[in-house]
Amino acid sequence: MRILVVNGPNLNLLGIREPEIYGRRDYTALIAFITETAGREGIETECFQSNHEGAIVDKIQSALGAFDGIVINPAAYTHTSVAILDALKAVGLPTVEVHLSDINQREAFRKVSYTSLYAEKTIVGLGFEGYRQALLYLKSRLGG
Ligand code: DQA
Repeated sequence: MRILVVNGPNLNLLGIREPEIYGRRDYTALIAFITETAGREGIETECFQSNHEGAIVDKIQSALGAFDGIVINPAAYTHTSVAILDALKAVGLPTVEVHLSDINQREAFRKVSYTSLYAEKTIVGLGFEGYRQALLYLKSRLGG
């Protein structure tokens, strides 16, 4: 089973950016966490991060025929990007949306998620653990 993990803008600055919200562990630690968790579950992952909406759209499109599912934290694009929503719909893979923080308990604009209009499941406020739950959900969803 192959899962594409996509992280959006500013997540490369984890550990530095607003640590009181996003924690003190950095992006390298997140990738290590995802890779180890997936490995233990027998899931192959590719992790991709970009600060650019079009690059994220391109990566999602490239998942067609190459991956069985997608875990995505679109970061700020969650709240703005119809293009990412449309890419997910176009590719049609089972998708879980993850947010490190609880977007429902923050500013009003973060309560709107375009990604949620397609994602089968949205996990918020669990930090790194959210990615583990997303992988486990897809594993059981895909019969792995
Ligand atoms: C985030 C929440 C978004 O609102 C924010 O723009 C981010 C990170 C999260 O993981 O909590 O960059 O997606």
